[in-house]
Amino acid sequence: MRQAFVQKSRLETERLTKHLPYRKKLRHMNHPRNYQKIKTIDDFRELDSPVPINVAWDVTPTESRQMVLRMLVKPKYGDWKIPDELFWLKDTLMKLHQIDTKATGILESNCYVTVRHGIPESQKDDEWHFDGASFRVDTIPERNYILVSHTPTEYKSGKLDIPEDFDPLKHDLFHFAAKQLKDAEITTIECNRWYLLNPFCLHRRNPNTPQIPRTFIRVSFVDIEIRDVNNTQNSLLPTPAFGRDPVHTFRNKLIKY
Ligand SMILES: [Fe+2]
Repeated sequence: MRQAFVQKSRLETERLTKHLPYRKKLRHMNHPRNYQKIKTIDDFRELDSPVPINVAWDVTPTESRQMVLRMLVKPKYGDWKIPDELFWLKDTLMKLHQIDTKATGILESNCYVTVRHGIPESQKDDEWHFDGASFRVDTIPERNYILVSHTPTEYKSGKLDIPEDFDPLKHDLFHFAAKQLKDAEITTIECNRWYLLNPFCLHRRNPNTPQIPRTFIRVSFVDIEIRDVNNTQNSLLPTPAFGRDPVHTFRNKLIKY
């Protein structure tokens, strides 16, 4: 049965994208970014808002509490590997994959799932940040589709004035952007609605998120493998992330510009 839906999804994706010129695919999402172009620091001169996505929200996790961090559920060029605990998300994953494929023209990506379902725990997302803004590897922009049940994600839009000597491998881009847009208006997304957040969207979790059960889901389509020891291991995939912890070895060493 698993095999059948993997096959069906692949055929559907191919049907949707076959022979479509690249520009036409992008227009589908009415989005200005070229997701097939390597991300550069210049892309951050004009920030993007989250883009609402037309995918119904009609499923919830089956457990009362579920914490999954960046679990790989589809390796690039491989088939879907959706473990039983994420089977409730299967249809949504297929829909988001089709939407992403149609919007970007990219047929194969790694797909990662994050689920934060239960009493909110970590405070790490309360700082202004970009998802997928690392410059350690030249790569195309990742696409993060998110949904939250209450106290929705906050974001700021606007322009960044990035000096010539700003080096994202040395300087902390999150801090720089938060400082420059200190007085920019804070906007929030809508609850229970899917949005695309690309790496050029400055956002944070609301720091006053109450300690009541909340559901946050993020489905990420990424060209490169996210090698991070903190990723939740998928029991259907054999190889863990081999001890690398980029927040400690890289992020925390960036200096303030
Ligand atoms: Fe984020």
